[in-house]
Amino acid sequence: MMTRLVDRVAIVTGGGGGIGAAVARRLVAEGARVVVADLFEAVAVRAAEPLGDKALPLQFDAADPQSVKAMVDRAVDHFGRLDILHNNAAMTDPDKSPQDTTAVDIPIGIWREILDVNLTGYLLGCKYAIPHMVAGGGGAIINTASNSGSAGDLARIAYGSSKAAIIGLTKYVATQHGRQNIRCNSIAPGVVLTEALEKTVPGLKEIIQRHILTPEFGTPDDIAGLVAFLASDEARYITGENISISGGGLVHQPHYADLLAFMQAKD
Ligand SMILES: NC(=O)c1ccc[n+]([C@@H]2O[C@H](COP(=O)([O-])OP(=O)(O)OC[C@H]3O[C@@H](n4cnc5c(N)ncnc54)[C@H](O)[C@@H]3O)[C@@H](O)[C@H]2O)c1
Repeated sequence: MMTRLVDRVAIVTGGGGGIGAAVARRLVAEGARVVVADLFEAVAVRAAEPLGDKALPLQFDAADPQSVKAMVDRAVDHFGRLDILHNNAAMTDPDKSPQDTTAVDIPIGIWREILDVNLTGYLLGCKYAIPHMVAGGGGAIINTASNSGSAGDLARIAYGSSKAAIIGLTKYVATQHGRQNIRCNSIAPGVVLTEALEKTVPGLKEIIQRHILTPEFGTPDDIAGLVAFLASDEARYITGENISISGGGLVHQPHYADLLAFMQAKD
């Protein structure tokens, strides 16, 4: 394991979830100290505990400006500086997410709540973290978008729109704060098989497998490797980009899977 992040301090939001917990583990393994910040204290503690005093679990709500500010200030008080922000939380409320459907059917309150967490929450992270990063000489922000932000889907219009906006937010932050030595990039996972996803959408694995180019599915650790790279000085010339990490799921023609099946049936 490389140690590219020695002496760096990071915040990972949604740090108690599948991807966030893997990122927290990876950043610590590379030498960083990490605040594992999540809406649910129990999952933040579960992710942070195995990392000992290199990780601090914090409860916060990405949709609440005061809560985001308090979380960032507490991170800086505890570890003394701030170098890396991984904005990664996303609305997961099982009563609300299923109501994120189509333009016609979505309740407007659900649209607003999803944008508050997924999009405004990322803006707030940047708003309160950047001044601390600038004071320390610079920093790296990595925003978790999604392939759902680059192409339409049959449901989840608010989720997809929030992810598209994150790609735009990333370019604005990179442009406006680049000369202060702040780099800002977004990552766009395709389907990543977290435990939660395998349970909630049975059969999804087989469908997605037809459309990816790599032999294996991506895991949270694959995402964590990309975040660690973008956070490190090895990525010092990369900013404002959106990097898809999805087994080539969006690089080919839409008819790829059908054509492949057709050709295989002829053999
Ligand atoms: N798993 C995938 O296939 C996939 C694909 C593309 C993008 N993503 C994105 O990756 C990120 C992480 O996803 P995951 O798969 O680890 O999901 P997850 O549900 O395991 O993690 C999300 C975390 O965000 C936290 N959270 C929810 N609302 C919050 C709030 N208001 N304030 C603070 N924290 C809050 C949840 O408690 C949870 O721990 C999300 O942004 C998601 O949209 C995931």
